[in-house]
Parts: sequence; C-alpha cells; structure tokens
Amino acid sequence: MWRMTTLYYVLLVLHLVGWAIVLGGVLATMRDRVLPRGALHGILTALVTGVLMVGLASSGAADVGEPDNTKIAVKLLVAVVVTALVVQGVRKPAKVTNGLLGAIAGLTALNVGIAVLWR
Ligand code: HEM
Repeated sequence: MWRMTTLYYVLLVLHLVGWAIVLGGVLATMRDRVLPRGALHGILTALVTGVLMVGLASSGAADVGEPDNTKIAVKLLVAVVVTALVVQGVRKPAKVTNGLLGAIAGLTALNVGIAVLWR
C-alpha cells in the first residue's frame, strides 16, 4: 500500500507546517501582544493531520509501523491545551497576555521535544 504510506508522509509535512505556523507566528507577534493570523488554522492542521497519521499507522494502511500510543496520548493532550488557548485568544483578543502567548509557544515547543526525544 505505498499510496497510503505516501499520504502518511504528505500528512507529516502538513503536520510540521501546521505547528510551525503556530510557533513562528506567536514568536513574531509576541511583542505586540496579539495572536498571529493563521494560528487557529495552524494548530487545527497539526491536530487533524496528527490524528489522521495515527489512523493510517495503527490500521496498517501506511507501512510505517505501530505508533507509540502513550507518546501520542501525551502529545494529543498538550495539543488540545494549545488549541484551547488559541481559541481563547481568538475569542477574546483584548485579553491576550504575554503569558497566554508564552504558554502557546512553550507548549508547542514541548510537543516538538516529546515528538523527537521520546523514543
Ligand atoms: C502542537 C502540537 C504538535 C507538535 C508541535 C508536533 C510535533 C511533531 C514533530 C516535530 C514530529 C516529527 C517527529 C519525527 O519525525 O521525529 C511529529 C510527528 C508526528 N506527530 Fe506530532 N506534533 C503535534 C501534535 C500531534 C498530535 C495531536 C498528534 C496525534 C494525535 C500527533 C501525531 C504525530 C505522528 C503520528 C507523527 C509521526 C510519527 C512520529 O514521529 O511520532 N502530533 N509531530
């Protein structure tokens, strides 16, 4: 099933682009204390592509081995918190603080660490 394996890697590219938009955007707008445009789309892209990759890997449709479900559960939890923080910032732009932006950037960086270092 090489097509599904290719799809998996295309999703991985979108996954990386998705959270990179969030992290890069938040760092760029931190001083202005506003959420960057595209942050919501970025984190939703990371979330949806992540879940789809897990589906393709667990079902065996993509030839990439079994995902580590404990690692995935922790990443999913962190990503859901990031999503909630971004949604909060989009809903109430006047209440965006450096703390909120720092938490979004920090938790996104934490997930990069978990993704790469958890072996
Ligand atoms: C802020 C959120 C997230 C960040 C920063 C992030 C970061 C990353 C990074 C850096 C990789 C590449 C790892 C490598 O190839 O060595 C990756 C891969 C992956 N991510 Fe995420 N991720 C996030 C959310 C999620 C979520 C919510 C899921 C699933 C529910 C998920 C599932 C996966 C899978 C299946 C892979 C490919 C397999 C692996 O290397 O573990 N990710 N992610």
